[in-house]
Amino acid sequence: MKVNSVILAKNLKGKRVLVRVDFNVPLKNGKINESYKITKSLPTIEFLIKKGARVILVSHLGRPIGVDKKLSLKPISQILEKKLKRKIKFLNIDSWKKIEAEINKMKEGDVVLLENIRFIKGEEDNKLIVAKNLSNLADLFVLDGFAVAHRAAASVSGVAKLLPTYAGLLMTEEIDGLLKLTVKPKKPFVVILGGIKMETKLPLLKKFLEKADYILLGGGLVNTYLWAKGVKVGSSIVEQSLKKEVLSYQNKKKIIWPVDLVVGEKNGKNAKVFKIDEINIINSKLAIYDVGPATINLFNKYIKRAKTLIWNGAMGYFEQHPYEFGSYSVGRLLASRAKGKAFGVCGGGETVEIIKKLKVTDDIDLVSTGGGAMLEFLSDNQLPGVKSVLKKKYN
Ligand code: 3PG
Repeated sequence: MKVNSVILAKNLKGKRVLVRVDFNVPLKNGKINESYKITKSLPTIEFLIKKGARVILVSHLGRPIGVDKKLSLKPISQILEKKLKRKIKFLNIDSWKKIEAEINKMKEGDVVLLENIRFIKGEEDNKLIVAKNLSNLADLFVLDGFAVAHRAAASVSGVAKLLPTYAGLLMTEEIDGLLKLTVKPKKPFVVILGGIKMETKLPLLKKFLEKADYILLGGGLVNTYLWAKGVKVGSSIVEQSLKKEVLSYQNKKKIIWPVDLVVGEKNGKNAKVFKIDEINIINSKLAIYDVGPATINLFNKYIKRAKTLIWNGAMGYFEQHPYEFGSYSVGRLLASRAKGKAFGVCGGGETVEIIKKLKVTDDIDLVSTGGGAMLEFLSDNQLPGVKSVLKKKYN
């Protein structure tokens, strides 16, 4: 698999370059909690500035339905200004004509950031009109948001069909790093899956069942599984649409379910550990918020033997004490085995946040900006964004 890296692009001077980054960073009370994805986007932006390109950045943030001020990218433009030490012009997307006019005023090396592209109808379902409007702004397209490469969106694979397209430096680094794992991962190959974006992860379970030796599960999938079996789970996060599918994994030997869970109130009060078969939450103030110590002990038995380890998704609501226990334990166990005893990879917004909090980034072989994208890449390599940057007619 060879990507058409932006390094190969000729004559960037003065060119209008549309760059799809992924600035979808974790937010807490409206504030940016973690900026790993932004930092990892800098090399491509700096490369383009140096080449004298006119840089038009486009990204999404969160999952807004229409315009949602809380998910504006404006605060990110301020962070970016500090990191790049230069002025960034922030442009609302209320009129494509106005944006075009602003872009025409840009000088070589100037950078603009467009407002959250998911405010625009047709972005997520890849409507041609959105891709066309974006393509009109630029001479070429650079896809650098690896974390969104699994979405066939207008600003990802849509616009790539309309403009000469290159992979940014981050995109290239991620693909090269993860490719090492797709060829022949060393066994035992253990995948640890958590988080609450269940609709992204559940379909991947099937694929990982073929490749991996064990899959250790935490987070929302566990709640959904218990709920699907008829267990009372209080106000735990559950994805009801996945009922049938989650039940189909019930007797899979490769899937290791938690043996105990932490139940409590959202603010951390009244937290108590229950064995999994004792879960029966009638009080709607209570929910499952973490895996328990016996689960960590069990997971450790698999982690210790693994030669390849992949982790994506928090084990629980780690933002609230005392529910960080499960996620922090998994992060430390991964770090203790990676870089030597096993090839250790992790990725995804919350997962990176945990790894950063634990200060173990350097102890892990590969910290990917992608969560769902990383898992999909490792399970079958067919990401729409990745396909868009493979060497083809524009090299
Ligand atoms: C991510 O954080 O995984 C990416 O930015 C994709 O976000 P999405 O799951 O909302 O499409």
